[in-house]
Amino acid sequence: MKVIKNICCIGAGYVGGPTMTMIAAKCPHIEVNVVDINAERIAAWNDLNVDNIPIYEPGLSELVAQTRGKNLFFSTEVDKAIQAADMIFISVNTPTKTYGVGKGMAADLKYIELCARQIAAVATTDKIIVEKSTLPVRTAEALKRILENTGNGVNFDILSNPEFLAEGTAVADLLNPDRVLIGGEISERGELAQKSLVELYANWVPREQILTTNVWSSELSKLTANAFLAQRVSSINAISELCEVTEADVGEVARAIGADSRIGSKFLKASVGFGGSCFQKDILNLVYIAQSYGLKEVADYWEQVIIMNDHQKRRFAKKIVETLFNTVSGKKIVILGWAFKKDTNDTRESAAIYVVDYLLSEQAEVVIFDPKVSAERIFADLEYLNTRTDKENRDLVTVVEDPMFAFADSHAAVVLTEWDEFKAYDWSQIYVDMLKPAFLFDGRMVLDSDKMKEIGFNVYTIGKG
Ligand code: UDX
Ligand code: UDX
Repeated sequence: MKVIKNICCIGAGYVGGPTMTMIAAKCPHIEVNVVDINAERIAAWNDLNVDNIPIYEPGLSELVAQTRGKNLFFSTEVDKAIQAADMIFISVNTPTKTYGVGKGMAADLKYIELCARQIAAVATTDKIIVEKSTLPVRTAEALKRILENTGNGVNFDILSNPEFLAEGTAVADLLNPDRVLIGGEISERGELAQKSLVELYANWVPREQILTTNVWSSELSKLTANAFLAQRVSSINAISELCEVTEADVGEVARAIGADSRIGSKFLKASVGFGGSCFQKDILNLVYIAQSYGLKEVADYWEQVIIMNDHQKRRFAKKIVETLFNTVSGKKIVILGWAFKKDTNDTRESAAIYVVDYLLSEQAEVVIFDPKVSAERIFADLEYLNTRTDKENRDLVTVVEDPMFAFADSHAAVVLTEWDEFKAYDWSQIYVDMLKPAFLFDGRMVLDSDKMKEIGFNVYTIGKG
């Protein structure tokens, strides 16, 4: 078995950055080099002030401060890091394809392939290659073929090691994972490579929580885990709509069903819709794979999870317009929260983007506040949708750094991310500042609706009849 002394990770994103930081912290005897083609991102990871690292995760900057410059290094020198490494993690992004076959569904593997070709061109010693990016089943096979056919005689072993960390709790999830999954080839060499990675994680994860499987089971498990999690959110969101037209309260229903140990209490929070870089992408990927094997019923079954999620975002936005007397044209609406969940600055696929886009199409004047997301990110997210020009977006949207001055003369306040600080706001003062009737839309069930009604608000909470 190869004892790992030097690790390289290609991709310094939401997955590569935190994962490598944890490995460096837990394995001081291993040198960890995180490389990325994006020089600006690497510069941010190297910023003298660790508060400026490009990813906000509770506890992460402290860990970076402990390890950076000791055994954790961030750089753009990809070739050099590949050459020195015994083990290479691939953590580049695999967005949904925006062109060609599988457009809008399949994962775009172009970055993965580029990485494989670069590794093959540069490597002069044997390497263990670890797939960290979420990939369609059987990608490892493709990787192996590229590496073996273009390499200069060195041996490559390919492992699948999907990441299960959730953003906002990345450090805690990495420190204390429910399980680590390592897929390897069924061969003597494959098993030895798998063992090297098991030993790496065993520096801090109990061995019984390190699962080993074949490569394809591992790849498919990642897609399946995300599909099941997202399915629970869509299931409770479907029930939230039913609760709203009856006298039921989705929070109470969730508590009641979650007490059944077979169901369990997690991932039953009704919301304005799930977001994030993984759920939608991975389900679309699963659907595409099922379709390509001719499994129509399987594909349709999972696609419904996405259809429900799109419906949830749209119906929330529609509810705002209907409640504001069927027009929001020229009305000031304050949006609280842009990130796809609390405690992260990540906005990919955030429900907020779609809700606000709908309101802008109805000509609302939108004021947005998020404690961790920059104005430029918000405008970039809206521009990416291509519904209207950047100038038109900028004419209708104002992003503020202090929400307390935003509410004057507004018609409605809308909570789209469950940031804790929103609960602590002086809602009585906000009510005074707003136009009357003052409307409050809570897409995350974070505010005490009875208290808000007492203050005087007209309150709509997702899932409350
Ligand atoms: C990860 C996983 O890799 C993805 O498969 C999963 O489904 C979601 O999370 P993430 O870390 O969130 O992606 O992506 P991102 O933050 O975009 O980071 C990827 C990094 O790879 C970027 O910084 C990008 O510059 C870098 N990259 C991309 C390279 O260094 N080389 C490339 O060829 C392509
Ligand atoms: C997810 C998986 O949880 C993680 O294991 C995987 O590695 C990556 O994808 P992430 O997308 O970071 O992680 O966050 P997650 O906590 O799963 O939330 C996803 C979305 O679902 C968020 O928009 C969140 O607000 C929403 N959600 C989650 C709900 O609406 N209700 C819930 O009960 C739980």
